[in-house]
Amino acid sequence: MTPRRIHRAVADETRASSPPAGPAGAGIVLDHVNKHFFHNGTAIIALANVSLSVAVGEFVSVIGPSGCGKSTLLRIIGGLLAPDGGRVRIGDATPAEARAAKRFGFVPQTPALLPWRSVAGNVTLLRDVGRLPWRRQAGSGPEASGDAASDPMALLAQVGLGSFARSLPRELSGGMQQRVSLVRAFALGSPILLMDEPFAALDEITRDAMRYQLLDIWGQTHKTVVFVTHSIPEAVILSDRVVTMAARPGRVASVEEITLARPRTEDMEDSEEFSFHAHHVRTALRASWEGREP
Ligand SMILES: Nc1ncnc2c1ncn2[C@@H]1O[C@H](COP(=O)(O)OP(=O)(O)O)[C@@H](O)[C@H]1O
Ligand SMILES: [Mg+2]
Repeated sequence: MTPRRIHRAVADETRASSPPAGPAGAGIVLDHVNKHFFHNGTAIIALANVSLSVAVGEFVSVIGPSGCGKSTLLRIIGGLLAPDGGRVRIGDATPAEARAAKRFGFVPQTPALLPWRSVAGNVTLLRDVGRLPWRRQAGSGPEASGDAASDPMALLAQVGLGSFARSLPRELSGGMQQRVSLVRAFALGSPILLMDEPFAALDEITRDAMRYQLLDIWGQTHKTVVFVTHSIPEAVILSDRVVTMAARPGRVASVEEITLARPRTEDMEDSEEFSFHAHHVRTALRASWEGREP
């Protein structure tokens, strides 16, 4: 089957605005969301009529020029910022309710580790302060493997930091610190991860490796992820769908469904199918820069 034939939708407005029915539809739903800010007395429309749905367990990336509202979108989903208009639902809850119920984990651009706590201390911090119930079970089977997927020590080992559990953050490189931050987010029981350019401060080689480590740990948990990035290859290799936003006003310009099979591998980056999707996202992004339809 050619990539063109299996490619289903570049700008699938219908799917973007109406979630599928049934349990898979109980993810994130934004319906005609608006948000403006005032800057020096002038209104800035950060988000205009943004409609988007993310299914449970789906990995969606958001890409777009600086200032197009990506962080605003993430903060609205996460209940950190209220929209001016429109509706946001996290399953059957409002973002504020979902936030109070600890349904979100955030991964910021910089790791924000506590410098006086060890790596292990940092990844278990939120558990220690009673943020979420965390159980460690012996034995095997689905129950135990579910727990193993959020066992901080197992996750640290998986990202190659097993022997750094007692180290302090300052003894780690930037890439290693960001891996700790990822582990911390995945070790929480939160079913939704909101990631705002988590790899932006890393060099290209580290960043490449991090993609696959992220996919590895995501593959065990299948948390629902909204991932903001500036990198087209990163968005394509990670995601089920890539949402391209345009600026002034911030809006959804197009949605690309990524049909690459899972699990994703580095070889796929050389495939025709990968190039096909990357080309579509690049075209949409270029159009959004130039302020025209893709
Ligand atoms: N708290 C704020 N006060 C005023 N303007 C803001 C605020 N937050 C964001 N903005 C503006 O809203 C627009 C979208 O910002 P943001 O969501 O941070 O964009 P992105 O993450 O895509 O770079 C920008 O023009 C930004 O300057
Ligand atoms: Mg931002």
